[in-house]
Amino acid sequence: MPYGRCGDDDATWPAEDACADEETPLLHAGAAAARERFTPDVATSARVYNWLLGGKDNFAADRAAGARLLEVMPEVRLAARANRAFLRQAVRRLAAAGVRQFLDIGCGLPVAENTHEIAQRAAPGSRVVYIDVDPMVVTHARALLATDDHTIALRRTLCDPWRIVTDPVIRAHLDLSRPIGLLLLAVLHHLRRDAAACEVVRILRRMLAPGSFVVLSHLLDDGQPQTWRAQAVYSEAVVPVRARTAEWVAELVDGMEPVAHGIAHISVWLEGDESSGLGSIYDRAALKQIPLVCAIVRTPA
Ligand SMILES: C[S@@+](CC[C@H](N)C(=O)[O-])C[C@H]1O[C@@H](n2cnc3c(N)ncnc32)[C@H](O)[C@@H]1O
Repeated sequence: MPYGRCGDDDATWPAEDACADEETPLLHAGAAAARERFTPDVATSARVYNWLLGGKDNFAADRAAGARLLEVMPEVRLAARANRAFLRQAVRRLAAAGVRQFLDIGCGLPVAENTHEIAQRAAPGSRVVYIDVDPMVVTHARALLATDDHTIALRRTLCDPWRIVTDPVIRAHLDLSRPIGLLLLAVLHHLRRDAAACEVVRILRRMLAPGSFVVLSHLLDDGQPQTWRAQAVYSEAVVPVRARTAEWVAELVDGMEPVAHGIAHISVWLEGDESSGLGSIYDRAALKQIPLVCAIVRTPA
């Protein structure tokens, strides 16, 4: 099936649920249940990722799914660590550029260094809204991340971007007349329909004041059979995931200005990043094999 484009005529998904997909259900029954309530017996994206990062907030089902993924893509642990290193670098870059407000969508379970800690280290008082669809993530985020007046965690879904854009709680916490950093790391590839992913980003871009930034990472369709196998295993064992090309990602942020490397492979972003913890010769070589594209772009001021 050819990749969709971000043109208006492709945006035919039902506006009330960007994840709805009659032909190929986006979520198998177990994963759909996991979106609604705490289900330790069904692997979730957040907990598998937590396990890959060496965290303890996961269960046997998550570890089993993660192990299946490792079989087809041994670099997947490195990919998770690299993705977090990119997040840390991006938040530092935005903070250095003067951004004091962040909306982190699909934030995942708390890890060693989280968005608000990095932002507040650079500029005390920086405000952060964490959003995730997974109830366990939001519970943990409230307990461990939202521990100061400047940080909140909400259960919302990217599948309903209008709710996010118009949300009074978000609007009370962030001043949307000023620039924000919109973080969409390792989450847009969970929107399987191309048109839906395009439309979600198009709608979210409406909440960005001039000078705002979008940071994203996305599973990259690098044409390698290993990537397609990993996509198939992850989609079956956890939740649907869809690799896309860098050109496709470029269309998502069409009209925005590239920052630093703009849209580039993860290895390009982490080259020379001393704080990534991934500077060994082995890591540098392995990073080039990871199917992950990352972007930092800015709305014209
Ligand atoms: C692989 S984790 C990435 C975590 C973090 N953004 C990072 O890059 O380190 C993906 C996260 O996206 C969340 N997610 C998946 N679909 C979502 C949706 N429709 N709306 C909001 N969050 C979603 C999952 O629950 C999970 O916590």
